[in-house]
Amino acid sequence: MKKPVLTICHFLYCHIAKPILFLFDAEAVHNRATSLGKLIGYIKPVTWVMKKATSTDVPVLTQTIGGIHFKNPMGLAAGFDYEAKLTQVLPAIGFGLGTVGTITNQSYAGNTEPRLGRLKKSQSLLVNKGFKNLGIQETLKKLEGAHFEIPIGLSIGVTNTSTLSCQDDTIRDIVEAFKVAENSTVPFSYYELNISCPNLQVNVEFYSPKNLEKLLNALTKSKLSKPLFVKMPIDKSNNEVLEMLKVIAKYPVQGVIFGNLQNDKNDPALDPSEVKRFSKGCFSGKPTEKKSNELISLTYKTYGKQLTIIGCGGVFSPEDTYRKIKLGASLVQLITGMVYEGPQLIGQINIGLLNLLKQDGFGHISEAIGTEN
Ligand SMILES: Cc1cc2nc3c(=O)[nH]c(=O)nc-3n(C[C@H](O)[C@H](O)[C@H](O)COP(=O)(O)O)c2cc1C
Repeated sequence: MKKPVLTICHFLYCHIAKPILFLFDAEAVHNRATSLGKLIGYIKPVTWVMKKATSTDVPVLTQTIGGIHFKNPMGLAAGFDYEAKLTQVLPAIGFGLGTVGTITNQSYAGNTEPRLGRLKKSQSLLVNKGFKNLGIQETLKKLEGAHFEIPIGLSIGVTNTSTLSCQDDTIRDIVEAFKVAENSTVPFSYYELNISCPNLQVNVEFYSPKNLEKLLNALTKSKLSKPLFVKMPIDKSNNEVLEMLKVIAKYPVQGVIFGNLQNDKNDPALDPSEVKRFSKGCFSGKPTEKKSNELISLTYKTYGKQLTIIGCGGVFSPEDTYRKIKLGASLVQLITGMVYEGPQLIGQINIGLLNLLKQDGFGHISEAIGTEN
C-alpha cells in the first residue's frame, strides 16, 4: 500500500511547518495545536478527507485485546491531550487508540515554567508539566455525550500537591479519581494508571513492591469496569522492574506500558549542551528508546503470556515501531516522533508496518509480536 499524499505532507511539515512552529515557545505551540485539532475534529468533511488520506483499515493490523477492538496498533501516549481536546480528530490522523490525561483527582495549574522545551539534536522534548490538568470532574464533563470512533483511554495519576503528605493519602486520592471515572457515562475503553511521573512535588513513590501492592490492592478491591494498564518508569534497574511486575501480575491488570520519561540527564542519547539549558524536568523521544526496548523485551520474556505490553518511547518511524512489536509490544504509543516528523507519521507508520510484516512473511501483526526475543 502506498499513499504519496503522506510523503508530501511529511515534506511540507519538515520543510515549512516545523521550521516556523519551532521558532515559537513549545508550550504555546502545543496549546494552539491541540485547540486547532479540537476544531478540526468537529468539521466532519475535513476529518472525512483526512481519513481517506491516512487510513489503513486492513485486517492485518487489527487486534482485540482485553475485549477492546483496535483497528491498528498506533496510539497517542498520555501527556499530549491532557485537556481532552483531541478525541474526535485522532481517528482522522490515523490513530488506532488515544489516551486522555494524565488527569488527577484535583486540578493542577502546572509546575513553574519552562514546562516544555525542545532538544533538537537529541530528538527529545523537555517535560516539566507535573500533571498540569483540569481535574477529573472537569475533564469528564467536557467529554459527556461524546462518541469515540477509536478506543480512548484515561490516564490517571496522583494529584500533584504537597498537601498529600503520606502514602495512604495519595492512595485515597488516586482511588477517588478512579471512582469518579467509574461513575461517569463517558464511553472510554481503558485506564492507564500512571505511577511513573518524575516531575511531582507530592511525596509519593509506588516503585517499591510494598507501596505498589497497597495501591493496586486498594484500586482493584472493587472490580474496575475497564481494562487497566500500568504506565511504568524506565529509570529503574531490571531487578526493580521485575519486582514491580511480580506485584502487578498478582492483580487484575491487563498490561504495562514501557514507559515514561528519561530522568537521567547523563543518558548518552542526550546532547549535554542541550540538557544544560534546563534545570528541571525529564526527557522524551530518542533518549527513552533504548531503555523502553530493553524493558519491553524483559517483560515479554518473563510475563509475556500474562501481561499485554504497550511499547512507548522514541518511536519516529515504522522501523522503530516494528522493533518494539518484535520485542513483545502488542500496541505502540508515541508523542515526540509526531512533533518532530509531523502528524502524517501515524499513517506512514501503519503503511510501513504492513510492508515490514509482508517482507518478513507475517500474515497478521500478532504473528510478529515477540519474535525477536
Ligand atoms: C509533553 C509531554 C507530556 C507528557 N505527559 C505525560 C503524562 O501526563 N502522563 C504520562 O503517563 N506520560 C506523559 N508523558 C510521557 C509520554 O507519555 C511518553 O511516555 C514519553 O514521552 C515517551 O514517548 P515519546 O518518546 O514517543 O514521546 C509526556 C510526554 C510529553 C512529551
